[in-house]
Amino acid sequence: ARRVAVLISGRGSNMRALVEQADGYDVVLVASNKPQAAGLAWAEGRGLATWALDTRGVAKPEWEAFLDEALADHGVGMIALAGFMRLLSGDFTRRWAGRIVNIHPSLLPKYRGLDTHNRAIEAGDAAGGCSVHLVTEELDAGDVIAQAEVPILPGDDADALASRVLAAEHQLYPRALSAFVKASIA
Ligand code: GAR
Repeated sequence: ARRVAVLISGRGSNMRALVEQADGYDVVLVASNKPQAAGLAWAEGRGLATWALDTRGVAKPEWEAFLDEALADHGVGMIALAGFMRLLSGDFTRRWAGRIVNIHPSLLPKYRGLDTHNRAIEAGDAAGGCSVHLVTEELDAGDVIAQAEVPILPGDDADALASRVLAAEHQLYPRALSAFVKASIA
């Protein structure tokens, strides 16, 4: 099975879904740019290896070099970003080209970047959703490999839509990663 590292910056609910529904891959490392990320504590409690390095005071190339060392130490072959809120450099994304995926809370190519749910509601969209995509240097712009749609209901605010989308993320991401890993081994 492919050895996967999941990168998080906060809560880590998608990381948790990836761990609990792993099929055809193993999460061997949970890494973060935020040593206090709640998801790290959950991963440790689960007995998973974790790595965290605060980005403050560390230049990006240096931070990414340390991350690469941790990835190598754990024999990682694939990276899944899950609420990882730091832009990775072109050098890093090129080095991992085709082996790094992300989940984004919109129906890409709509609403790259932040505040996706407010933007979908304000646009009057009938549906929101989430996308799993390959990560390239350009933010949220790599090829989409899977999407799930949810309705936007009358009276929805961003929080209501976010929780409906998040439930869909937890279903979509493990399945998409599993299918992607199987296809890229074949
Ligand atoms: C998720 O909704 C994810 O799609 C989003 O942040 C949330 C993280 O939640 N990611 C982005 O906005 C990436 N730009 P989690 O930490 O509980 O998985």
